[in-house]
Amino acid sequence: MATKPQSTTAAAMNRNHHLDFLRVTEAAALSSARWVGKGKRNEADQAACEGMRITLNELDMCGTIVIGEGERDEAPMLYIGEVLGSGSGPNIQIAVDPLEGTNLCANGTPNAISVLAAAIEGEGKLMHAPDCYMNKLVVGAEAAGVVDITLPPRVNIRLMSKALGKDVDELIIGILDRPRHDDLIAEIRDVGARVHLIPDGDLSVAIAALDPDSDIDALMGIGGAPEGVITAAAVLCYGGEMQARLVFTNDEQRARAQAMVGGDVERVFTTKDLADGHVMFSATGITSGDLLKGVRYRRGYALTESIVMRSTNGTIRRIETMHRHIDQYEF
Ligand code: FBP
Repeated sequence: MATKPQSTTAAAMNRNHHLDFLRVTEAAALSSARWVGKGKRNEADQAACEGMRITLNELDMCGTIVIGEGERDEAPMLYIGEVLGSGSGPNIQIAVDPLEGTNLCANGTPNAISVLAAAIEGEGKLMHAPDCYMNKLVVGAEAAGVVDITLPPRVNIRLMSKALGKDVDELIIGILDRPRHDDLIAEIRDVGARVHLIPDGDLSVAIAALDPDSDIDALMGIGGAPEGVITAAAVLCYGGEMQARLVFTNDEQRARAQAMVGGDVERVFTTKDLADGHVMFSATGITSGDLLKGVRYRRGYALTESIVMRSTNGTIRRIETMHRHIDQYEF
């Protein structure tokens, strides 16, 4: 008979925290959804932040933002080090991206999401990533343990093809559409695989790569490091694999990474370097995309789709919510 994973008292007590965080990403998605397609990225981002901050402050916790909208002097809210919550309850590290894909939201194009990862201090951890770029390789559980970011992409494609039991020309690799990826895109096409080019939003495409039901098999290429840490929390929950390297565009970024991360900042970071232990993850769709449906309005109510996970038991829930009092999300 299969045995149920043993839950410690603390883990059992914490088993509903991730549902609290679901409300947080839902609120941010509903707030920014008002700005979808309006061409106003700052207003959309501001609304998402406001929705997220208000709901985070309602939670019984002593939460600290470890990845947020920037440093204290550059972000009015959800800045790194900001303390949120009622002040009673567990100490929780929180990594947020209230609106991942600000241009996607402003342009009304696919894959804008609101996303959050959290770890209770002492039980889990999230790397305090500097605001620089990160080269990422993300694969689902079937290709975990076979790829290696230090190998040429064409080699990883062949390794994935074997592990997934798919022909190379059946593989779909998500990549941000940026000039810096011209060589990567050419190499992947040259070896025969397909490229799924995205204008923005590598976080939702990375998570789609983890989902066996999605068309995407992997995410490759350089995107934001903060988004990379949040991605790693989802990888930990799903059981896929992420390998990453920080990419610096100036010495200041390198020095900042040295101070925040320590050690050899050029090293390959594994999933567990980025997110480890008991972590929680919640994302809600703003515009429909590879991972989630966006906010949809009906007569007098709105529908959201979210994905909520926790690494402790590896549960992954897709939650469709009907919101009947949507005026409260207008900022
Ligand atoms: P924003 O929501 O902050 O605009 O980020 C969107 C995004 O596309 C991320 O998904 C990605 O990791 C990063 O920007 C890539 O950065 P850049 O646009 O500088 O290439």
